Amino acid sequence: MTYTEKDQKFKRYTVTSALPYANGPVHIGHLAGVYVPADIYVRYLRAQGEQVMFIGGSDEHGVPITIKARKEGCTPQDIVDRYHKIIKDSFAELGISFDIYSRTSSKEHHETAAAYFKKLYNEGKFVEKVSMQYYDEEAGQFLADRYITGTCPHCGNEHAYGDQCEACGTSLNATDLINPKSALSGSKPVLKETKHWFLPLDQDEPWLRQWILEGHKDDWKTNVYGQCKSWIDAGLQPRAVTRDLDWGVKVPIEGTDGKVLYVWFDAPIGYISFTKQLKGNDWEKWWKDQDTKLVHFIGKDNIVFHCIIFPSMLHADGSYILPDNVPANEFLNLEGDKISTSRNWAVWLHEYLKDFPGKQDVLRYTLCSNAPETKDNDFTWKDFQLKNNSELVAILGNFVNRTVVLTHKFFGGRIPAQGTTNDLDNEVIAELKTFPERIGRSIETYRFREALAEMMNLARLGNKYLTETEPWKLFKEDPERTGTVLNLALQICANLAVLCAPFIPFTADKMHRILCLQALGWKDAGRADILAAGTQLEQPELLFEKIEDAAIEAQVNRLLETKRQNELNAWQPAAVKEKVSFDDFGKVDIRVGTVLECSKVPKADKLLQFKIDDGMGGRTIVSGIAKFYPEPEKLVGMQVCFIANFEPRKLKGVVSEGMILSAEDKDGRLVLVTPSQLVTSGVNVG
Ligand code: MF3
Ligand code: ZN
Repeated sequence: MTYTEKDQKFKRYTVTSALPYANGPVHIGHLAGVYVPADIYVRYLRAQGEQVMFIGGSDEHGVPITIKARKEGCTPQDIVDRYHKIIKDSFAELGISFDIYSRTSSKEHHETAAAYFKKLYNEGKFVEKVSMQYYDEEAGQFLADRYITGTCPHCGNEHAYGDQCEACGTSLNATDLINPKSALSGSKPVLKETKHWFLPLDQDEPWLRQWILEGHKDDWKTNVYGQCKSWIDAGLQPRAVTRDLDWGVKVPIEGTDGKVLYVWFDAPIGYISFTKQLKGNDWEKWWKDQDTKLVHFIGKDNIVFHCIIFPSMLHADGSYILPDNVPANEFLNLEGDKISTSRNWAVWLHEYLKDFPGKQDVLRYTLCSNAPETKDNDFTWKDFQLKNNSELVAILGNFVNRTVVLTHKFFGGRIPAQGTTNDLDNEVIAELKTFPERIGRSIETYRFREALAEMMNLARLGNKYLTETEPWKLFKEDPERTGTVLNLALQICANLAVLCAPFIPFTADKMHRILCLQALGWKDAGRADILAAGTQLEQPELLFEKIEDAAIEAQVNRLLETKRQNELNAWQPAAVKEKVSFDDFGKVDIRVGTVLECSKVPKADKLLQFKIDDGMGGRTIVSGIAKFYPEPEKLVGMQVCFIANFEPRKLKGVVSEGMILSAEDKDGRLVLVTPSQLVTSGVNVG
């Protein structure tokens, strides 16, 4: 029995995590928002002895995938095969403990999603409408969802998609967009008639209002509740659940060639179809039994789909339970900037695992302690290093290591007897007892940062206890008291091994090994007699190692390089200046000269001093291009263009009689402008 269930004891838990689009790898934003908290939750419930079904999988339909395939000149199936594998493997390596990680391109999923649609269709739950949809005449295709972009009517973002504005989170219909543009050809789309099936969300308003706004006022997170309220208050509109596309689950009705289910209709059904894949005929108890608690872990951009649209689909069928909670998180930024797949501004999980082998728990820990639970948050590499070095190493690792090392030193690694405890010991024992419930309550109410902080407070308690009792000084005069202290410290370690497991499971396993601890349940924690005296411990082993500056710098440099690349990619020619007349242009006297001498100006790192043959006896010109021509003597003999009637100027003590022309490339490099053939020194350019 968990701690927070007042009215209802659930028999089992169905926990889903948003299905990532298989059009790219998973990054730290996905992890902090969805997968790390979901995994903590299910590991905790399992430790509580609860029955849990943890569902994950790849979302393999939808326009982002076909757009990517088109860009790379391959099939959508190629794209999803590639990323499904990367995502699935990296989740497994991070210890995200799905009961199943499947995919929506699977045959079973197509069958389940088609059958779901068919049942609602047969029961008349959809509204059939012929409407005008945007069509790209150049590409010969209807423009669903992300195939169309334009200005969001709510916030003015110019890059809103046909189904959603990512800037303000509003879900849109393509026809809502201002200045619509085809993402395929860039052309202005035309409206063309087509038939689709709509989920009449307007009819769902009364029960949705009651279920969410009254029923979940107190237990849903304020960010989730607030978004739902504003949608419901704004009035819900019927929503098309089919599309004119060829990649997706085919609409299971005769004569509907070229139509598939909307990706947001089929993907959440994936939660159900994957459960079926795993448990055969037993799947219904996870979805249809009122004693099952359904929880969706998602990011904030998924709230409308999981709180309104999917529930409306479940309700339309009539035999399903509704989610008990939808603990959506806000977004995680990276080094002060929004994470972006297209700008490669991300820390990719599969790359992290390669760069930091064996350090899964450091990432899990950092992301949980920084999780964007109530507001957007920032991940920085410096903070990652700090969390590792001053928390995991210095607090948790240090406490466990000191305790085990001292036990080996004084007792040959055999757990000493607890003996008689004094007041200080009893206080520690009493406090220890409170941790499982405190951590458990925080997890059950989706406050994972708070739960993690409490877990670390137990390690802090352990360190404080060692500091106060100083067992390293005690042994000579009072071996028995030393035994009591180390016994108690080891009991704290054993408790930590149980209580840290949802957050940092790899470390928990290590601690179990070192302490020769059998797998224990959450309810076994809180006790000061978990470990039996006389048990022989394994050799101490460091739980965490320090992360050096060099490793962090390498990551920061990679990001700086990305930023530089992005700036280059974003380069555009400068706006053309105001018009000038032929006469005005003629006032500038541009000529060709030949370099006679060239050298650095002393004490000025940017300046080169040229002696130019100008056909009129020669002149000196100073130019700020030294950085780009490190061997100035090699410029001798080259022809350059210069302004001959430029006002003379003194630069670092040298009088410059003119200006040499150079072009500035997009990376800031200056390149001398030179005629394409040799000409006579002093001739005019014009
Ligand atoms: N692929 C979606 C996203 O990344 C999430 C789909 S969740 C599901 O935003 F419910 F549809 F499965
Ligand atoms: Zn918007």
